[in-house]
Amino acid sequence: MPNRRDFLRTTATSAAGLAFTRNLCLAASALPAGHARIEVLLNEPLGTISPNVYGHFAENLSGVIYDGIWVGADSKVSNVAGIRKRLIDEMQKIRPAIVRFPGGCFADSYDWRDGVGPADKRPRRTNFWAAGENPGAPASHRYDSNRFGTNEFAQFCGLLNAQPYLAANLRSLPAEQFYQWIEYCNSPAGSTTLSDVRAGAGFRDPFNVRYWGVGNESWGCGGNFTAQEYAVEYRRFTTWVPTYGQELSFIASGPNSGELDWTREFFEEIVRKGKERILEIYGLSLHHYAWNLSRGKTQDWNQGKGDALRFDDVDWYEVLREGDRMESLISSHWQAMGEMDTAHHVKLVVDEWGPWYRPGSGLTPDDQLEQLPTMRDAVFSAMTLDTFNRHPEKVGIACCAQLINCLNSLYLAHEDKFCVTPVGHAFAIYAAHQGGQSVRAEFSAPQISYERDGRTANFSGLRGSASLREKNLVVTAVNPDVSQPIQAEILLRGARANLASTTILSASDIHAVNTFDQPNAVTPKSDDVRVREGHISCQLPAASVTKIEIQLA
Ligand code: AHR
Repeated sequence: MPNRRDFLRTTATSAAGLAFTRNLCLAASALPAGHARIEVLLNEPLGTISPNVYGHFAENLSGVIYDGIWVGADSKVSNVAGIRKRLIDEMQKIRPAIVRFPGGCFADSYDWRDGVGPADKRPRRTNFWAAGENPGAPASHRYDSNRFGTNEFAQFCGLLNAQPYLAANLRSLPAEQFYQWIEYCNSPAGSTTLSDVRAGAGFRDPFNVRYWGVGNESWGCGGNFTAQEYAVEYRRFTTWVPTYGQELSFIASGPNSGELDWTREFFEEIVRKGKERILEIYGLSLHHYAWNLSRGKTQDWNQGKGDALRFDDVDWYEVLREGDRMESLISSHWQAMGEMDTAHHVKLVVDEWGPWYRPGSGLTPDDQLEQLPTMRDAVFSAMTLDTFNRHPEKVGIACCAQLINCLNSLYLAHEDKFCVTPVGHAFAIYAAHQGGQSVRAEFSAPQISYERDGRTANFSGLRGSASLREKNLVVTAVNPDVSQPIQAEILLRGARANLASTTILSASDIHAVNTFDQPNAVTPKSDDVRVREGHISCQLPAASVTKIEIQLA
């Protein structure tokens, strides 16, 4: 007996009849089930996809820095100057453009001076996140040796060829320390005492840090400010900052998800001292976590969360639905920013994004906030990256939370064990978009229908983005359907395809994960695709992430 889901599909198929043709005017609703059309409009550029939207976030939180990134120079774990070598090797493959450090909430408790100077003289401090650590967790997660500080972070970024993005403490340090941290990082060799301290540690050349966050989540852990209060602080911190010849791009602490009032009130206060103050802001940070899987039953932060590994089909769509809010968040905050910033000088900086599940799924049980990413999280991440690609003029930077041993991590590591998660593979697949020209593309497929608490719910049948670099077109597409593959026709407007290949990340089980014991359970597979009369057709498996690389004639 067919279930409701099958019934809806069969109905959709018969409604469309068997008249599926290459009719370009065919509406998505008229496409038969299992069929999709991707129309790439090569003459409609949207803007350059900044490599910085493929950024990462590494907070000094539990196993992220100590054990994840930093193992120490005398460790048995293979390392480069104390930094885990396998991590460097893997990250180099995804060309990470920018990494944000040291927090998160940690940032507003951090004194950068603790993390510079001779390693054995650095003070030990209680970590901001100490209260959440399990009794079995290593002391390094509770008490911070400060062994990994500004120098080590700059070195890490140097090895990755990534830009450092430092988040400054606005809640518990005076503005003077912000200026001095910039001086430490950017003042020329031999010019100041702080540049001498840097040189004394072996870093003669300035780090030339351009991106500076001015506080983090200042509406919450960053000081519980109102937007107006924060804007006043922001102005104070960022007025007349010495540049040392380095362009500085300040990022203001922005809203929590859909809190448009924060965005409006921040800008209203900023311009109280003149519209030109807007020119002193590079970006407004936006944080969005997909955490509430309660289907509207609660707003409680703990009760609303779902499980990273044990989920049904409805939970799958629920996480994707929460993540998919990114599109409307970008548009609505952009619009609110435009009420004051009419020329749209300020970019959105989505410097924390990802799903957030209840604790307990991590490979290293004592790593606070660590969760084990499944195929669901790869699909979620790919959909989010597609959203950023479609808004190149709005999103200047984005950082997935967080790089390793934490929330939506690309990598998991413990001592000498390491694995790339499905999220890491999604990032590797999408790296091809970096720096490309985003072009408009229409992704059409019948909606997915499913039963959600006794009612029919719908979810988009196909998502994606496209970018062009010279003769190389990259199309990425996500099939969010838990069980049905889609046959996708790719139609190019304004060019003809010559050669094409696909890279597909999929698994037979939507719960599939990579672990230390089975690190290759989920890996991408590449294949050539036939190009017929300039057109391409390929199958997008159920619950999959696909990249189609097309060489244009
Ligand atoms: O990513 C974990 C935490 O989530 C960050 O420290 C904070 O900024 C956010 O609330």
